[in-house]
Amino acid sequence: MTQAELEKGVQEILIDEVALQARIVELGAEISTDYAGRDLLLVGVLKGAVFFMADLMRELTVPCEIDFMAISSYGAATDSSGVVRILKDLDINVAGRDVLVVEDIIDSGLTLSYLIGNLMSRNPASLKIMTAFRKPEAAKNAVDVAYVGFDIPNEFVVGYGLDYDGHYRNLTSVGTLSPHVYS
Ligand code: IMP
Ligand code: MG
Repeated sequence: MTQAELEKGVQEILIDEVALQARIVELGAEISTDYAGRDLLLVGVLKGAVFFMADLMRELTVPCEIDFMAISSYGAATDSSGVVRILKDLDINVAGRDVLVVEDIIDSGLTLSYLIGNLMSRNPASLKIMTAFRKPEAAKNAVDVAYVGFDIPNEFVVGYGLDYDGHYRNLTSVGTLSPHVYS
């Protein structure tokens, strides 16, 4: 599908490609300064974070590696226990490493809280969180995020890695979903 065709499913574009990429340049510079002299391990949470991570990594001036985890919530979609199942674990041992977890979006932050606990038990040298997008709920739950791309309203959004039923991840901007898509 072309970007124009993808955009037919979008009600309103919240962040366009230019704004997204400009913010990634800023974040890349900030992280490169913060991690100067170190060798960073970026841990992406599949699948949504892939796009953000690929763009961000190319803005870093510090040595870095990437690895990925896939997780799924236990039980029903409405289950808010935050307990998750690891579907794909890391290949790289994080012990003694400077780890930066890269998320696509943080909503309640429950999934992430579990992941942080799990990774901390593996004794990284440091562990920080970064997310492309953050919803207001995350701030309420005091999820400790070191780097945030954009704070967005409490609406369902797609694009730049974020999906609706597996689709729209390849939209280069981020926008709200048109009601005609899900009704
Ligand atoms: P949390 O555990 O409530 O923070 O859920 C975060 C996960 O829910 C993200 O990694 C996304 O997979 C998904 N998610 C939350 N909000 C959205 C959205 O607006 N669009 C697409 N996926 C979302
Ligand atoms: Mg998802």
